[in-house]
Amino acid sequence: MLKIAGTTAADRSPAVVADVLQRLDVGGRVDPLVGLCESFADSRWSHSSTRLYVTKEHYSFAVSETGKLTNGISREVTESVVMDELAVIVEKPRADAAIGALRVEGIYDDSRSVYECGNETVAIPVTAPPEETPVEEVIEETGQRRVRTLGDHLQARGWSEAELDRAPGSWAVLGTVILVDIGDSPRPTEVGEALLEMHGNADTVLARKGITGQHREPDVEVIAGVGDTETVHTEHGTTYAMDLREVMFSPGNKAERALMGEVIGPDEQVLDMFAGIGYFTLPMARAGAHVTAVERSSSTFSYLVENVVRNGVQDSVETYRADCRDVIAESGPEVRYDRIVMGHYDAHEYLDSALTVLESGGTLHMHEATPTELVPDRPQRRVEDAAEQAGRTVTSVEVRTVKGYSEGVSHVVADAVVR
Ligand SMILES: C[S@@+](CC[C@H](N)C(=O)[O-])C[C@H]1O[C@@H](n2cnc3c(N)ncnc32)[C@H](O)[C@@H]1O
Repeated sequence: MLKIAGTTAADRSPAVVADVLQRLDVGGRVDPLVGLCESFADSRWSHSSTRLYVTKEHYSFAVSETGKLTNGISREVTESVVMDELAVIVEKPRADAAIGALRVEGIYDDSRSVYECGNETVAIPVTAPPEETPVEEVIEETGQRRVRTLGDHLQARGWSEAELDRAPGSWAVLGTVILVDIGDSPRPTEVGEALLEMHGNADTVLARKGITGQHREPDVEVIAGVGDTETVHTEHGTTYAMDLREVMFSPGNKAERALMGEVIGPDEQVLDMFAGIGYFTLPMARAGAHVTAVERSSSTFSYLVENVVRNGVQDSVETYRADCRDVIAESGPEVRYDRIVMGHYDAHEYLDSALTVLESGGTLHMHEATPTELVPDRPQRRVEDAAEQAGRTVTSVEVRTVKGYSEGVSHVVADAVVR
């Protein structure tokens, strides 16, 4: 089942909306609908295989497979609806931080619920537009749809306050699958069922316990729903097909995936040494890079190839199912890369190999899991030492934190330019 959600301005461009409508094949009525969506340039939209959902400041509507508009668009478009309640839209990973900041500003309205708004954002009720807290946008609520929080759902199932305290605080909706850090939550099946009630487009809930092994395989368990762990997730316009039982997809790396699409210069030659299902390869190729993508695990590799095709970047991505060291060792002397992405926590062990094919003045993005007290020194020193041993010079190195990895350990990236 194809699922795409759009939240950024680029995702909502008329061309992308047109593409989605075309894929939806809305009964030959694509053109008028594209026109409609163009006129709602600042709308948010998402769709399932049968419906397109559009939410705009004053109204929301759905377009069904047959091209019929539902959810009372005519009423909502033709009447001007007077609104008196405000909410701010923020990306889900920022929700807790934003609520804290809005509280500090004294405008968080805790008498109303926070609710999901599209696949990637939430609406947080406020009493006034924020002056200091960064938000995606401020909206007036129509009061049409209030999604209850997980706590509300569990309370309705008879959970005590003590049990609610141990309920999961975060989860990610990836296409039709909800991935939840279940921790030591009581009654996992009920958590899963409540999450399915909250996210109508999802059909399976996977509890994530960890990631293991050289191939970073997920340790997960289906706790509710039909148990179909294969899904298609769209993020910043890039589509990722995957089986979440077999491959990892870290919601916490979302900003990093987007960033890799933004740093690309014209005609860059890029090597993605640990390509996975195309986490970084796809946004970089979509941004115009020529990418050599290497992935060792055969099950992950098959999704990488599928995703290259799904995103229409076959002409700019060369895929190898191999050990990246072997691909480098066997590449001809003329092969040089402007940028090398090393998206593996043991990436530092591969620096010697990477440096043999990095163009002078090229950039390395070396990931690692670093004890917080060793940030930024350890990753920085590792890159500098490897460069020195290779007779190269690091002209700049910046260490960024991507996310918390575990208690006292951070997932960081060293961005290094090497001459
Ligand atoms: C950590 S995952 C990629 C994570 C990804 N960067 C993200 O944002 O979620 C690393 C991938 O590298 C692959 N891998 C591990 N060692 C490899 C090697 N020596 N050569 C090629 N691929 C390798 C694994 O199979 C896995 O799919």
